[in-house]
Formats: sequence, C-alpha cells, structure tokens
Amino acid sequence: MAKKTKKPVRKSATKQSGNDAVVKSLTLVLADTYILALKTHGFHWNVEGPLFLQLHEFFGKQYDALTEKADEVAERLRALDVYAPASFAQFTRMSNLAEETKVPSAQGMVAQLLADYEILAEDIKLGIDIAGKADDADTQDLLTSQLHDADKTAWMLRAMLRG
Ligand SMILES: [Fe+2]
Repeated sequence: MAKKTKKPVRKSATKQSGNDAVVKSLTLVLADTYILALKTHGFHWNVEGPLFLQLHEFFGKQYDALTEKADEVAERLRALDVYAPASFAQFTRMSNLAEETKVPSAQGMVAQLLADYEILAEDIKLGIDIAGKADDADTQDLLTSQLHDADKTAWMLRAMLRG
C-alpha cells in the first residue's frame, strides 16, 4: 500500500485574509494601473507626428511612473497577506480600462489617456473611501498619493488637448 503523503498547504490566489473590500479596491487599482502602463508604453513606441519627441518622452516618463505605482499597490496587497495578480489576462478581466490594440493619432492617444486617468482617479477615490471605513490608514495614504499623481497627469493631458 502506497504511503500517504500529506499534501502541502498552498495559498489560494484568491485568499483574502485582509479586509475583503480593501483588497478588492487595491486589486482594481492595480489592474487599472497596469493596463494603463501597457497602453502608455505602446503609445511611447508608436506615437507619430510633429509632437513625436515631446510625446514619446512624456509617455515614457508616465510609463515608468505607472509601473512604479503598480509595484507599490501590489506590495500593499502582499502586506495584507494577499497574493497580487500578475497576468494581463487577470488585469484585463479586473480593470475598468480597455486595452488599445490599434494606433490612434497623437491627439487620440492623449484624449484616450485622459479618459483613462479620470476612470483610474474614480477607482482610487473609491478605494480611499473604503480604506477609510476599514481604518486602513496605510492603504489610504498609498491611494491618496496615487490620486495626487493621477490628477496631476490628467491635468497635463487636458492642457495638451487645449493647445
Ligand atoms: Fe523607450
């Protein structure tokens, strides 16, 4: 008779030992941020036109900032003892933002990013509210800093469209 071996206990990817609502909102912000980072990176590569250099550099900086932000949100999830999703299949499913598979005009890129940052800001605000109700000051602080950056980037994109 084969010796029974004890199965190792594995954490489920959906394990939620922190406040579930906080985890849900952090996961949404992470998914939004990663989808936005991927889109911004694509725009950095593919932008064309007289403003190429400015937009190429601007999108490059924003891409770096977004991946840094995503890292902070994912590490907050880990601090809450929850695994962070790390695949585009999950991010696409969870995010309120849509991926871009075409190459819009330079102005179309700026307009699309502005709309996305506005959605991201709404999702962050919701997260701040939820973290406040859960007395989770660390998540509140993290998301407040993210909201500041999202609002600032939205302002810059809005200003470009008025030029
Ligand atoms: Fe680059």
